[in-house]
Amino acid sequence: MRLPHAWFIACRSRDLRDRPLGIVMQGTPLVLFRGASGTPAALEDRCPHRNAPLSAGRARAGELECGYHGWRFDPGGACAAVPGLARRPERAPRVPAFACEERDGYVWTYSTADAEPRGPPFRFPHLGERGYAAVRREITVRSTLRAALENALDVHTAFLHGGLFRTRGRRAEIEVMVRRHRDRCEAEFRGEPRPEGLAARLLAPRGGMLAHVDRFILPSVAQVEYRIGDASHLVVTTAMTPQEDEAIRLFSVATFRLPLPGWLVAPLVTPVARRILSQDARMLALQADNVARFGGERFANTELDVLGPQIARLLEAAERGDGGAGPVGAAAPEHEHRVRMRL
Ligand code: FES
Repeated sequence: MRLPHAWFIACRSRDLRDRPLGIVMQGTPLVLFRGASGTPAALEDRCPHRNAPLSAGRARAGELECGYHGWRFDPGGACAAVPGLARRPERAPRVPAFACEERDGYVWTYSTADAEPRGPPFRFPHLGERGYAAVRREITVRSTLRAALENALDVHTAFLHGGLFRTRGRRAEIEVMVRRHRDRCEAEFRGEPRPEGLAARLLAPRGGMLAHVDRFILPSVAQVEYRIGDASHLVVTTAMTPQEDEAIRLFSVATFRLPLPGWLVAPLVTPVARRILSQDARMLALQADNVARFGGERFANTELDVLGPQIARLLEAAERGDGGAGPVGAAAPEHEHRVRMRL
């Protein structure tokens, strides 16, 4: 799957310093470097002269110098100098360039070369907002984008993560509203008492009713939002970067406001988040291996798989170029239905 006109996180801001950085996005090798003002730039990681990887070169005065014969390229991909030539070459081929933007501590890169972005990159909610603390994590999983998104949003907490958030004990019957917009889909869970697992107790020590929304936002953001009463609010947002067909880099940001101070909760939440991520990564790798063993995917859905089919539909539209540039707005949903389940 290749999604055109989509913003993906290329790297953390702090990982792009004064040296070029090679990454892979949707199977395409890219080189990142900082221009004269420190603004990040992204080019195809291939010198047009003799195919050397530009990531093996160096950044000089805001330009990227190939490590082989020293051709230099500006952040827009134009050849700025060929050593030994008296003046700037008129017909030197350029390198395909990808729009870049730095926000929230990440470098975002647009997936279509030499294109004006159709919208801004995604913005992580509540980052830096008064009263909110944040915990960030990154991990690479062996999985397709679709499977990784569904894993972040389907309800498997009582089994794969048993005891951390939900337990297998008492189950409450709740109502789920499922909505699909042009650029996103969401499942809103209504009427659920606070679960009994460790993370849920940390979130709301005094209990209460849970307001819970799972959300997929094109092109690759999975978001889980919990509110318990007025005091507790947790949003776990994961922006996924497809590096290869089965290598997805996850950039997760948990932003939360709790009755307990953030400095006290963050060290408690961090090991729980790490445990959940590693359990998911292990299951996704097992799933990918089994798909390979059987020579392809096969899915069986029930009405409890509330978001999986909607995610697949949105991704297919984005692959055709319909969507993927970022939020379109809170227009009326294209589709809406209601499901009852026991959680
Ligand atoms: Fe890059 Fe020759 S291969 S300058």
